[in-house]
Amino acid sequence: MVCIRQATVEDLLAMQACNLLCLPENYQMKYYLYHILSWPQLLFVAEDYGGQIVGYVLAKMEEDTSEPCHGHITSLAVLRTHRKLGLATKLMTAAQNAMESVFGAEYVSLHVRRSNRAAFTLYTSTITIIMEAAVAQGR
Ligand SMILES: CC(C)(COP(=O)(O)OP(=O)(O)OC[C@H]1O[C@@H](n2cnc3c(N)ncnc32)[C@H](O)[C@@H]1OP(=O)(O)O)[C@@H](O)C(=O)NCCC(=O)NCCS
Repeated sequence: MVCIRQATVEDLLAMQACNLLCLPENYQMKYYLYHILSWPQLLFVAEDYGGQIVGYVLAKMEEDTSEPCHGHITSLAVLRTHRKLGLATKLMTAAQNAMESVFGAEYVSLHVRRSNRAAFTLYTSTITIIMEAAVAQGR
């Protein structure tokens, strides 16, 4: 059993460890701290029954006032042992919902390598889910 919950400062080292295992784009601890101090509502972790962090999403709000209010997914990863269980979808959905409800985000931006088939398909399907939800609610 894995739960999705908001991240705390105590989770940051485990998030960084997960990032190092999963992605070539890595960040110093001060960048994780910058995120959690600025937008604590937008960081989520997937925690297994043993308390291990098996996935995370690191997200933020864009600060460029010349663009409409929107969020940005800085990093998302799930440990290989826990993939294809829907965890990344849940992490993305949690971050997107918080961007909209807390900060009034109109959309979400992210960077993904075209060759990253798993992430590309994930983002396409997650965005579709959000769009369908918006249509169902008459937005
Ligand atoms: C991309 C990643 C986060 C997906 O995590 P996950 O928890 O396995 O994703 P989900 O289980 O929520 O999958 C959701 C959908 O994404 C797609 N997907 C996930 N893994 C896939 C794969 N290996 N190949 C093709 N599509 C895939 C599928 O459409 C899937 O839906 P389905 O299970 O109904 O077919 C994970 O593979 C990962 O951590 N990769 C390394 C880090 C990375 O690339 N991060 C993104 C950087 S932009």
